[in-house]
Amino acid sequence: MKNLNKYRKSALITGASEGIGKDFAFELAKQGFSLYLVARNQGKLEEVRNELREKFDVSVSIHSKDLSDSKSVSSLIEETKEFSFGIVVLAAGFGSGGEFASLPVDTELNIVDLNCRSIVQLSHHFIKRSEGKESLGLILFGSLVGFQGVPWTATYAASKAFVQSFAEGLYGENRGKGIDVLSVAPGPVNSGFGGRAGMKMGMSQSPNGIAKISLSELGKSATVRPGFLSKFLGYSLSTLPRNLRSLILKKIMASMVFGKT
Ligand SMILES: NC(=O)c1ccc[n+]([C@@H]2O[C@H](COP(=O)([O-])OP(=O)(O)OC[C@H]3O[C@@H](n4cnc5c(N)ncnc54)[C@H](OP(=O)(O)O)[C@@H]3O)[C@@H](O)[C@H]2O)c1
Repeated sequence: MKNLNKYRKSALITGASEGIGKDFAFELAKQGFSLYLVARNQGKLEEVRNELREKFDVSVSIHSKDLSDSKSVSSLIEETKEFSFGIVVLAAGFGSGGEFASLPVDTELNIVDLNCRSIVQLSHHFIKRSEGKESLGLILFGSLVGFQGVPWTATYAASKAFVQSFAEGLYGENRGKGIDVLSVAPGPVNSGFGGRAGMKMGMSQSPNGIAKISLSELGKSATVRPGFLSKFLGYSLSTLPRNLRSLILKKIMASMVFGKT
């Protein structure tokens, strides 16, 4: 991928132990990047590192951290001071499904801490560090649900609206300054996400291949809808008024969360 040549061949990936983050690890290793991988589950990270080492001749280091805890985010920042990353992929994130008031408030706050707070803290650090010095590709994760409010996953959808808006703002601020910000906004993806969120992923795409499509858009656009399903659902919804989109997604989410519309 020629557009990746301008970035130092070293990448930080959060949420790299499975799903989309893991796909980024494999694609970036294929492109010759050394990897600094973060997630909570040490065992899963070790498996990913072993798989990567079997296939690619790149250095892979793994780090177990709970990024919903801002102290852990600060320690990640501290521990990576000696590293210089060309690409930073902030894929760690999770959601919840159900009636807002019936979900534990700690889970909802944890979504905000991980999906929003840690993203602001890490983006701020890595942009400030690269400014005027080196090219940086910063990849954040929006979602199809982030373009309107979505009943039965209200907090998660709002967190992704935050990331989408944040990424668009940063993209505009940093254009032409060697710092490329991209929001990856998939539709439903068949990863570990559904299990943790309590959502049944019916029609969904594989996480495999999302990284390749997304990386090819880095430095070219603010948002990528990776793959046919993301594009088909995203663009067909985008022609409708916001309240109608919410209504349609309410029905879809009800079937994913409660098994009925
Ligand atoms: N799947 C979808 O349908 C979908 C659609 C649109 C957008 N997205 C977004 O895409 C991103 C990746 O999702 P995915 O589908 O790949 O989900 P996934 O398969 O569940 O992977 C999530 C990753 O984040 C890590 N993680 C979760 N909580 C963490 C924490 N507190 N601290 C550090 N790492 C944590 C997980 O590892 P550990 O459990 O080991 O920590 C895992 O590596 C997320 O931001 C998600 O919101 C997903």
